[in-house]
Amino acid sequence: MSKVSIKNIDKLYDEKQVLYDVNLEINDGEFVVLVGPSGCGKSTTLRIVAGLETASQGVIEIGDDDVTQSSPRDRDIAMVFQDYALYPHMSVRENMAFGLKLRKFSQSEINKRVNDAAKILGLTEYLERKPRALSGGQRQRVALGRVIVRKPKVFLFDEPLSNLDAKLRNQMRVEIKQLHQRLETTIIYVTHDQIEAMTMGDRIAILKDGFLQQYDSPNQIYHNPKNQFVAGFIGSPQMNFISGKLEANTFSCEQFSFKIPKTKQNKSGDVILGIRPDDLYDQWFATDKPYSKINAKVKMIEPLGAQTIAFLEIGDLELTATFPGNSLPEIGSTVEVIFDLNAVHFFDKKTGDAL
Ligand SMILES: Nc1ncnc2c1ncn2[C@@H]1O[C@H](COP(=O)(O)OP(=O)(O)OP(=O)(O)O)[C@@H](O)[C@H]1O
Ligand SMILES: [Mg+2]
Repeated sequence: MSKVSIKNIDKLYDEKQVLYDVNLEINDGEFVVLVGPSGCGKSTTLRIVAGLETASQGVIEIGDDDVTQSSPRDRDIAMVFQDYALYPHMSVRENMAFGLKLRKFSQSEINKRVNDAAKILGLTEYLERKPRALSGGQRQRVALGRVIVRKPKVFLFDEPLSNLDAKLRNQMRVEIKQLHQRLETTIIYVTHDQIEAMTMGDRIAILKDGFLQQYDSPNQIYHNPKNQFVAGFIGSPQMNFISGKLEANTFSCEQFSFKIPKTKQNKSGDVILGIRPDDLYDQWFATDKPYSKINAKVKMIEPLGAQTIAFLEIGDLELTATFPGNSLPEIGSTVEVIFDLNAVHFFDKKTGDAL
């Protein structure tokens, strides 16, 4: 177990800069998820921590050691990639033991570690099988087993679940989280999947174009996004954005205007109003809380059982709302859509920063 410090990291490939002054402090035993769109620099950051790539500027510390110049071997970290090719001709046991053999561990120590890891991962009864006789999830667990046996200070994961089907991915997500609770090893986990980020991370670091956007708990990121990018990236269906003006105590846009609560009145000017589909209602019981309603036309619905996702139109403004599952408005009908005014966000139209 170890803390990891990523300090002022820049990375240039030839002339092209792909990371800009990235700073992340990862606590001992913490599970941190790096998330962002394709090409934003997640893998590069992880590879710099691993020592597979050198930073153009900045420092990497593991525990209290400056490892910026150390080789990957000397960093005591283990990395799991998306393509976790197992050796097909070796049994599960041999696959898991292979790295330890190379490192000249004694046979009794190897057996002990492999048996322990197999127990943790529920692989004990498969130890003598070849990978081809395993399911996708079991193979993924063997790949995890290969790194667990090394007892590294830090685990690095780069999209380890993206080759699995949706159901298996959900199952492995839970398994990796439980594994972390058991081992309490520091984990840095890269994904482009915001659901994985929200459900797995103690903290989430969101990158865009090589810049760190926000580093916070899932709860903070969801409820207090620092900017419009973070607000739009996290949450599904996506947050609605409405371009308009904020003046004194009123937000107005082409389609409507309404008064906003006092707590939201600290700014004025051209803004983007953000509201999550979950914060739009078709019924409103909390009449003591500030709300505003407006008529909208139902363009489409997606009945998901527990919820109905409604695609609405107000003039040429499109909104997505999540209604209760028993609410099944007819397509083409008009409904009242209610804004929970305590849940609206405002972003500066120019910079995208939260106001
Ligand atoms: N070896 C390399 N040489 C030149 N450019 C590179 C190299 N590796 C990565 N890049 C560039 O650096 C940027 C960041 O790449 P990186 O692989 O870190 O992205 P990522 O966030 O992991 O994306 P993805 O989700 O697609 O895996 C990209 O623009 C990529 O094209
Ligand atoms: Mg990547």
